[in-house]
Amino acid sequence: MIESTGYQSGFANEFATEAVAGALPIGRNSPQKVAHGLYAEQVSGTAFTAPRRENRRSWLYRIRPAAMHGAFAPFAQPRFHNDFNAGPVSPDQLRWSPLPMPADAVDFVDGLFTMAGNGSAESQHGVGIHLYAANRDMDGRYFYDADGELLVVPQQGRLHIETELGVLDVEPQEIALIPRGIRFRVALPDGESRGYVCENFGALVRLPDLGPIGSNGLANPRDFLTPTAAYEDREGDFELIAKFQGHLWRATIGHSPLDVVAWHGNYAPCKYDLRHFNTIGSISFDHPDPSIFTVLTSPSDTPGTANLDFVVFPPRWLVAQDTFRPPWFHRNIASEFMGLVTGVYDAKAEGFAPGGASLHNSMTGHGPDAATFEKASNADLSKPDVIKDTMAFMFETRAVIRPTQQAIDAAHRQRDYQACWAGLKKGFVPPR
Ligand SMILES: [Fe+2]
Repeated sequence: MIESTGYQSGFANEFATEAVAGALPIGRNSPQKVAHGLYAEQVSGTAFTAPRRENRRSWLYRIRPAAMHGAFAPFAQPRFHNDFNAGPVSPDQLRWSPLPMPADAVDFVDGLFTMAGNGSAESQHGVGIHLYAANRDMDGRYFYDADGELLVVPQQGRLHIETELGVLDVEPQEIALIPRGIRFRVALPDGESRGYVCENFGALVRLPDLGPIGSNGLANPRDFLTPTAAYEDREGDFELIAKFQGHLWRATIGHSPLDVVAWHGNYAPCKYDLRHFNTIGSISFDHPDPSIFTVLTSPSDTPGTANLDFVVFPPRWLVAQDTFRPPWFHRNIASEFMGLVTGVYDAKAEGFAPGGASLHNSMTGHGPDAATFEKASNADLSKPDVIKDTMAFMFETRAVIRPTQQAIDAAHRQRDYQACWAGLKKGFVPPR
């Protein structure tokens, strides 16, 4: 087990960190001989020639290069894939109860269950949306995803994520961001654990521009924490699992790949506490669009139109006057996959449980259920409402999110979801 050695603050800053004094070269990236007999290796997360403000790469100083492992052979974990059902996709509103915990011993990789997605690793746009339910540490097993960066949203149980670049200790209401290609191992300090994973095939996520909001607000850069270098020097009969072009592969490896003694650069894992999100909303009337809740965004080639927005609905005050305060009825060109980490989401009276999920695709009508509509339409607006003890979120994408066959067939899908709107009364009375 690798213990955390601490964190550095900032989003994609030029970090520099060493677990052994003198391991980082000074003034050059690949000296003829690296100190302490280490190997120098660059990992690039953007094209070499990407504009400087988008360019992401790090230099790793490690015990053995990443090239050293056995040949890859297909690895069977049929619930984790990128087969997003090429056939017709139903415009139905969909909702699921929490992914059940496994009965057997299952680690993070074996516990992944693909719910939905769009695009592909091959086309370099779109997302894979997965849940995990696991109860044992990855033991002698290391994983990397060559297809996309991983945005991990734990819902139950802490994650101890040992990565090549250091350790992330993450608890529910925090998120972890693991860059494409970075190898890691997940341990579960609390045993049974569940959460959500968005696999981003598109441009790396970044903080959204703030426009008239100004220079502060929403997720502030200093609240993102990147680990300082931590490594293990360990040999044994281990396995390296790779996700590559939508499929899983396994190779033997005779040493731990978490052997980076020092590194510098701006391509690194990080974590963020969603409770630090500075929520901004109306102090007069009406709602801003939910884009006001964007934590991170993966831009597409179309300005202002995201490949992926990660949006969060944290505790907040509702003060708007002459306004229906919960999220209103709406249809969007975008498609929305929602999850709930804890508490209750203010547009739903029941049925949307922590660990559950919902999917509202492009132009599919949705909004508050009948009970919430009735209550909010008659609420006393002379007082503010405070929404406490909740953390809902959304993976929103420009392309339709296609549920997988296993998600459609799952016993925990709520086949009666649409009934939540059936009780909306006809209130229209034409003037006589
Ligand atoms: Fe929505």
